[in-house]
Amino acid sequence: MGCELTKLATSELKHDPIDKPAPAADPRSPLTTKQQYCMLASWKGIFRQIENTGILLFIKLFEENEDLLHLFDKLRELKTPEAQASSEELAEHATKVMHTLDEGIKGLGDIDAFFAYVRHVGATHHQVPGFKAENFWKIEQPFLQAAKTTLGDRYTPNIENIYKITIKFILENLVKGYEESGVENGKGET
Ligand code: HEM
Repeated sequence: MGCELTKLATSELKHDPIDKPAPAADPRSPLTTKQQYCMLASWKGIFRQIENTGILLFIKLFEENEDLLHLFDKLRELKTPEAQASSEELAEHATKVMHTLDEGIKGLGDIDAFFAYVRHVGATHHQVPGFKAENFWKIEQPFLQAAKTTLGDRYTPNIENIYKITIKFILENLVKGYEESGVENGKGET
């Protein structure tokens, strides 16, 4: 099955024309090659509003999980969505997290590099006192909601499906990176 953005993606990325057989996807990737093109093309729309999308994501994260605020040294006093929306510290952190996602998403074409990068980011969360692996999953719905808000009409059912697959894959690997490094460093949860 094609997607509305495949043409755009293939032309923007200067890959083979649509009527040539697509290169085989890495079997370890949950996305087909076409879905990967669509993801990258659509992500350009997010990237152009990366800070706003990140702020939205964190406001939604804290709206749904107030208890997570205390993990963030610089954000814990931002108790209301209004305070969060106007905080430079939140904007800065949100942008860093979004750039990390950007690096992961743009790296999906090279799965070995993707695993190394995303799992390393997962492992760094051992530096956050009180952090638990399951916290990563709390960002799944806020990410999808923020993407939907930023993309508007461009967030079609097909794109929604691709974003769902992509964020799940990223979160699984953040968790894996966190858990594997926890065992190595003797910092695993009991
Ligand atoms: C898509 C998932 C996530 C990504 C890509 C990600 C990425 C990052 C990165 C790159 C940093 C370092 C920021 C810096 O250098 O200042 C960081 C720090 C941190 N992350 Fe995550 N993160 C994710 C999910 C989460 C979730 C769900 C939580 C919820 C508790 C969380 C809690 C934290 C905390 C508390 C810090 C430390 C912030 C600080 O130093 O002030 N992360 N994260």
